Amino acid sequence: MNLLRRKSVTQLQADALTDQRLKRALGATNLTALGIGAIIGTGIFVLTGTVAAQNAGPAVVLSFVLAGVASIFAALCYSEFASLVPMAGSAYTYGYATLGELFAWIIGWDLILEYALGAVTVSIGWSGYVVSFLHDIGIQIPAELSAARGTLVTLADGTQVTAIFNLPAVIIIAIVTLLLVVGIRESANVNNVIVFVKVAVVLLFIFGAVHAVNPANWHPFIPPSTGVRGHFGWSGVTQGAGIVFFAYIGFDAVSTAAQEAKNPQRDMPIGIIGSLLICTVLYIAVSAVATGIVPYLQLDVPDPIAVAADHAGLGWMSAAIKLGAIAGLSSVILVMLLGQSRIFWTMADDGLLPKFVSRVHPKFRTPWITTILTGIVVAFFAALFTVREAGSLVSIGTLLAFVIVSIGVLVLRIREPELPRTFKTPAVWVVAPLGALSALYLMIALPWRTWERLIIWFVIGIVIYFFYGVRRSKLAQAKISETQ
Ligand code: ALA
Repeated sequence: MNLLRRKSVTQLQADALTDQRLKRALGATNLTALGIGAIIGTGIFVLTGTVAAQNAGPAVVLSFVLAGVASIFAALCYSEFASLVPMAGSAYTYGYATLGELFAWIIGWDLILEYALGAVTVSIGWSGYVVSFLHDIGIQIPAELSAARGTLVTLADGTQVTAIFNLPAVIIIAIVTLLLVVGIRESANVNNVIVFVKVAVVLLFIFGAVHAVNPANWHPFIPPSTGVRGHFGWSGVTQGAGIVFFAYIGFDAVSTAAQEAKNPQRDMPIGIIGSLLICTVLYIAVSAVATGIVPYLQLDVPDPIAVAADHAGLGWMSAAIKLGAIAGLSSVILVMLLGQSRIFWTMADDGLLPKFVSRVHPKFRTPWITTILTGIVVAFFAALFTVREAGSLVSIGTLLAFVIVSIGVLVLRIREPELPRTFKTPAVWVVAPLGALSALYLMIALPWRTWERLIIWFVIGIVIYFFYGVRRSKLAQAKISETQ
């Protein structure tokens, strides 16, 4: 048994060129919009306030800079891989080509935390926003149908009801799944509209509220540590970076659309790096304006940006911000489900998951079976469970993928230096190690129980691999037929 058997990069490149099963419909603009669609979500609308009030004070701006820099290192490495091996499996396929099958499986398994669990978490958040928005305009969703099964919900009149399931979360997942089945072009068009709305809301906040900034609120910029690690002081800034990292998750999902891009060699880096840079600038501006308007201790609320807008005399904006958040979260769900279904599709195509799920829809040219299966599983968990602390599990899973991709880029530079690379990570011997180290650093900042869950998740994954993939993989089968 050769657990470290690898796919050849040259073969993958040839496959990427000839494989036309999925529809190639996306250009640089659509890819950048997909990245922004995945990035701007709960992170900026919620975590900015939490981290300012609990960890970093106005220096939440620095937390955003640190997490942004770590993400840029990773984005440069992803860009090199995504233009070199433009396959829908993203980090999973890069792992297959550099570190071997077992690692590829582990990365694929790890990415479920980023994409599927990410979609579960975000759709529950989406449900909360929608219920509250509808309530504001006089439409009531029965409490029994808007929370996880068994949750006790207290109604306005003080009575309590037990929730049956989270209906809005199921509805959004069903709509997004359907859209993804119908077509990549259709999905990208809807995403473009959503991205336009949410970026407009963010810009409206930045430019509309900046006049109300009182620089006194930025002093002290880094509030002195209370003595507890992570509670203000420099350790608060770094712990804050680990938390707000969630807000950056998503640019890497662009790489899962590589087989649907018209010119992936050129456009993958534009989509990945472009979307990340745009969002980094927006995040730094939003957090600076919000903490400049409201004393940071008052930002520990579920809707800190709306509170800041209120302070700036833009009370009317609160509805727009809610709408922006709802729109924002819809596209995060869209791109997460897109990424997950592409990764499962590639894994099934490689024989590590049952082969029949890798079928492509004859008319829509989408991986419809993995899309629907992913939708059903994500809807099931979103309907019935509360996902307390799932955010940090999503972050740790993503960070681990960043570590592996950053190391993988170096491994491939050493092993196959002569490969024609259309995009080369600049100063790779500095950027890639810094990418791996900064992601590792942010992982270490996460709580120990997140690590425990990650380890349990991997144990389950490895057991599944040894029961299934190890013998069924295409490479293993090829070896068997060679020796017969
Ligand atoms: N970056 C995405 C968000 O903040 C996951 O919701």
